[in-house]
Amino acid sequence: MAAGRAFLCAPCSSLAAGARRLAFAPPSRALAPALRRGGRCVASVSSSPNAASAPEPYVLTTPLYYVNAPPHMGSAYTTIAADAIARFQRLLEKQVIFITGTDEHGEKIATSAEASGRIPKEHCDTISNSYKMLWADLDIEYDKFIRTTDRKHEAVVNDFYSRVLNSGDIYRADYEGLYCVSCEEYKDEKELVENNCCPVHLKPCVPRKEDNYFFALSKYQHKLEELLTRNPDFVRPSHRLNEVQGWIKSGLRDFSISRASVEWGIPVPNDTKQTIYVWFDALLGYISALLDDGEQASLQQAVDRGWPASLHLIGKDILRFHAVYWPAMLMSAGMSVPDAVFGHGFLTKDGMKMGKSLGNTLEPNDLVERFGADAVRYFFLREVEFGNDGDYSEERFINIVNAHLANTIGNLLNRTLGLLKKNCRSTLAFDAIAAADGGSFRDNVENLVNKAKHHYENLLLSSACETILEIGNFGNLYIDEQAPWSCFKQGGESAEKAAKDLVIILETMRIIAIALSPITPSLSLRIHTQLGFTKDQFRVLRWEDTKWGGLKAGQVMMEPKPVFARIETETEDEAQASSKATKRGKKACSKGLVEA
Ligand code: MSP
Repeated sequence: MAAGRAFLCAPCSSLAAGARRLAFAPPSRALAPALRRGGRCVASVSSSPNAASAPEPYVLTTPLYYVNAPPHMGSAYTTIAADAIARFQRLLEKQVIFITGTDEHGEKIATSAEASGRIPKEHCDTISNSYKMLWADLDIEYDKFIRTTDRKHEAVVNDFYSRVLNSGDIYRADYEGLYCVSCEEYKDEKELVENNCCPVHLKPCVPRKEDNYFFALSKYQHKLEELLTRNPDFVRPSHRLNEVQGWIKSGLRDFSISRASVEWGIPVPNDTKQTIYVWFDALLGYISALLDDGEQASLQQAVDRGWPASLHLIGKDILRFHAVYWPAMLMSAGMSVPDAVFGHGFLTKDGMKMGKSLGNTLEPNDLVERFGADAVRYFFLREVEFGNDGDYSEERFINIVNAHLANTIGNLLNRTLGLLKKNCRSTLAFDAIAAADGGSFRDNVENLVNKAKHHYENLLLSSACETILEIGNFGNLYIDEQAPWSCFKQGGESAEKAAKDLVIILETMRIIAIALSPITPSLSLRIHTQLGFTKDQFRVLRWEDTKWGGLKAGQVMMEPKPVFARIETETEDEAQASSKATKRGKKACSKGLVEA
């Protein structure tokens, strides 16, 4: 057993070639976990006898964001989605390691630092911090934040470079081509648009000639094909797999992994005149992030902390780096490849990718300030089917958020609590199980909850939101049909039935709060608190708790208070009257925030 694991771990020995064969080809999903444990080398290096039985971590990553400019809504989108997935996996009781961070080296960053009149490190500190602040405002709960200027990262990159060098996959050569600084990538002429412009950034690519170190990507063509054949789920959603297969089939060219002209980077080991290409540096951040601060910084140590990743979440523009370059680099270093790479679509404005380079961005701080984190998170995850592009419109934002969060969910809770206060002194008269006994309501809710779980598991975040909203619609329909307000007036059995109906709706709200908590964590906390639970009880909830029966007779509910305030918009008359004010920036506003 130990030999098998050591076999996978041996970095650059003669065993490494065999190790690579094993590491990049998980035979099936069912066998993958065992292989992954082997690949992570936990047992071979750990002195703990229990290491082999340690639970498999769920390692989820966002891209490491360039610090050429502060975050915009496009960059926030990946992180919001990742946070929702991480929260869902935590509800399933997985040991989640959610990694995000900033990509701080390279020409693009050096140029933006110079433009801001700061030395690169100072510039990086400021912008990296603006990411951290936005993540806090958006309720993002990451476990690790890696900066590629961290010392531990540099050590990991050096180790990795040495492994690839020892595999014989690095050589020196001249290169001449057209370079897009925004992509930090040499481009093929055939992919460029008019005037040699990059198709993503619409800026002219510049001719470059350099003496560089190259990575022998072409050697991995066959192995990459094999990886995708054996594990088509490696690239998701499935339509992106065809794209990746197409790139590989059309032939892989070696790529340069150093820059002679860029000072702001990690020096190439044994040749300090060159720095390591920013992608050959940044991708390693997914591994160096696993190290705890202050522990010995080495590639092996980081790998032992949880590599390989379960899921890399990225935008479609950086799919080639993650689904072609990265697995080949890992194979070369004798390491396991991640389980999956998911390439989502773009947030667009007027059909164009929203981005720092095009300058057509949407300010996430402004949206959060005006509408609150829940509204922003909900809108983008509900509105854009994860994997496709989606256009932003403020009108649609307000309509969706008001209809779903304020009306369907917020109003249902508020009016039910109002009725309970008026007729039952805010106290539940029945257990949820007894209240729903004999009816089909509970079965319907449970079926929808299972459906939502299935959607989350398959990263269909918009469908998960839709299904949870269906539960809310179902509750609204039920209360309208049963009309407990008039049953209370009739007294006797009717009033008893009405008291049961209120419990049914409140139990439904409890379930909605848990099921929606990966998307709208603060709103879910407010709902749960209104149902008489504490913050601590909210923090330890699991998906298991969506089972019908959490509310018990005697539980006292809080004073009804709106959990989500409608976003108020001006009427046409008001808009006309205040058109001048509007020009000065008067806007629709609500934070969607009401204290629990
Ligand atoms: N630094 C690299 C990633 C290195 S990962 C080892 C990078 N950074 S980036 O800041 O330019 O982009 C980060 C992510 O934001 C990418 O996944 C990109 O697709 C995403 N988005 C940037 N603009 C976007 C939209 N308009 N819409 C959705 N996502 C977009 O690439």
